[in-house]
Amino acid sequence: MALSPQFLDELRDRTTLSTLIGRTVKLTRKGREYSACCPFHQEKTPSFYVNDEKGFYHCFGCSAHGDAIKWLTEARGLPFMDAVKELAATAGMEVPAPDPRAAARAERAVGLTDAMEAAARWFQDQLAGIDGSEARAYLEKRGIAAATIKAFGIGFAPDSRGKLRKALDGFGDQMLVDCGLLIAPEDSREPYDRFRGRLMIPIRDQRGRTIAFGGRIIGQGEPKYLNSPETALFDKGRTLYNLDRAAPAARRAGRVIVVEGYLDVIALAQAGIDEAVAPLGTALTEAQLERLWKIVDVPTLCFDGDNAGQKAAMRAAERAYAAMVPGQSLRFVSLPGGKDPDDVIREGGAAAFEAVAATPRLLVDLLWETAAAGLDLAGPDGRAALRHRLDEVANAHTVRVIAEEYRRAFRDRFYQDFGWKRGGDRDGNRDGRGGGAGGPRRLPPGQRAVEEAVLRAVLVGLALWPRAIAAVAEPLSDLLIDDPQLSEVRDELLSTAITRPTLDDGALRSILDMLRMPPKGDRGAAPELGYAFLKSADDSESAEYQLRELVELLAREQALTQEFERVAQRLIEDLSPSNYEALESRRQALREARAALLGRAYEIGSGPEEQV
Ligand code: UTP
Ligand code: MN
Repeated sequence: MALSPQFLDELRDRTTLSTLIGRTVKLTRKGREYSACCPFHQEKTPSFYVNDEKGFYHCFGCSAHGDAIKWLTEARGLPFMDAVKELAATAGMEVPAPDPRAAARAERAVGLTDAMEAAARWFQDQLAGIDGSEARAYLEKRGIAAATIKAFGIGFAPDSRGKLRKALDGFGDQMLVDCGLLIAPEDSREPYDRFRGRLMIPIRDQRGRTIAFGGRIIGQGEPKYLNSPETALFDKGRTLYNLDRAAPAARRAGRVIVVEGYLDVIALAQAGIDEAVAPLGTALTEAQLERLWKIVDVPTLCFDGDNAGQKAAMRAAERAYAAMVPGQSLRFVSLPGGKDPDDVIREGGAAAFEAVAATPRLLVDLLWETAAAGLDLAGPDGRAALRHRLDEVANAHTVRVIAEEYRRAFRDRFYQDFGWKRGGDRDGNRDGRGGGAGGPRRLPPGQRAVEEAVLRAVLVGLALWPRAIAAVAEPLSDLLIDDPQLSEVRDELLSTAITRPTLDDGALRSILDMLRMPPKGDRGAAPELGYAFLKSADDSESAEYQLRELVELLAREQALTQEFERVAQRLIEDLSPSNYEALESRRQALREARAALLGRAYEIGSGPEEQV
């Protein structure tokens, strides 16, 4: 007897799922949903949810999922029709006469699962029979024990185009084609067996039902693995090999390991490490990551130690970073010398694997390495490219706190690896060609006052917008600052920015206090500057932009000053008339260029408002 989808939809609509489930399970209201400890598996904290609007229950722990009918059949063990009758009685509906087409479809889905089960059994029988001797020898050579073969349901497809078709002919060709066991040629020739002369590894869904096969060639040959096509039962990107066996083991062990291959999973399990799964010959998808994150917050990726494996790990890292929520991550175990987990187990057993697994790398490190790959970090071009890429990587996350923390972690590592500056030191003889070996620079008092006012404004601005510091760290750290107090403020800002992307009130106040100290010496009155970033109402992007522009202006002005001083020195040393004219006009040009730069800096800030 079968029912139309319309009838079943109406039946679901008229049923309040929480009332139905609430009869046997104690539900707690949580916003629009209800939660409870899952009735399908043992747990102490609730991960079972009931949503009346959608008419579904779902367990984030064991993935139990279904509607009202499923609830009655799975939790109460009622036959399908009895479940429908019970719901219809409560909803005040008549159960209609059967719809034969829907019946055929429903039977069909059941049929596909049955056919796959039958095929799995048949493949196992073939492995045990006369046809299977070569396959058995291969398994023995690989050290796969009888108990492992049984647990994983490994079988063998004989090298024939029709044996499976014949053995399973009760299902009919169409069904065997639909579940990918037979290939139907385009023309009207007969369908034939897809898997021939291969070791057959059943791929099971989370409930342990066979939904596909991976077929390995015996020995050498191409393709090494032939996998089932996608079918009504098999969605490759959502499936993880061995998840049915690994999930409970992973919850017990508190870890889940993702390896590349079927045989890696099998070797690990044989060595007593049951919590391993594998994607199916493709990159790890977001759907697969989500499944893993339902089991543990930080799954362990252990891809092969070869190039392909490491590239796949990098891709997984980027995908995981974009998809994770706070608390989730990935960690990475890399195997030495291009080995895969199966090799490691074979050579040194579980202990050898655990030894490498004990020191996984963090996601943040893998992302760094991905960004740094192929860059020459000994030069400024490579380092600039790295910083640019790291920014892009961090910003790929839409959750603010994650992007922020990753930006900060990258910045920390960058300055740890490369320091704030390189070349000469900032207090004196820069690059060995600075003017006057640390002596005071001779600047016209007017310009000097402008320069210092701009510098002060910039330092206040950076204290107010500490996020901008990273962008100006390099030119800022290179600025020659005579005033020891201002120089100290600059150093303070640079070092707090490494540890704290936002300054707390205490740090901010002490920096601002330092800046309010009256300027030392008689450099003339500093002009008042009204930069937009000194007003808290301004937005951070334009504040960062202005601050960067000003720091760059100051840095360029200082470079010009140094050249100006060198020219002035030569004028003193070499007063030959032929040189004098050239040097003097150069000095004049430099003076004008510097004045123009400071003028520009002054202009940007010559708004009507008061300085902080
Ligand atoms: P590997 O080539 O690393 O295979 O492919 P493996 O699992 O280590 O197998 P052995 O040890 O050589 O027997 C890793 C995974 O990639 C998929 C399979 O899922 C395989 O387990 N793959 C590989 C394919 O789907 N097709 C192929 O031709 C090769
Ligand atoms: Mn292998």
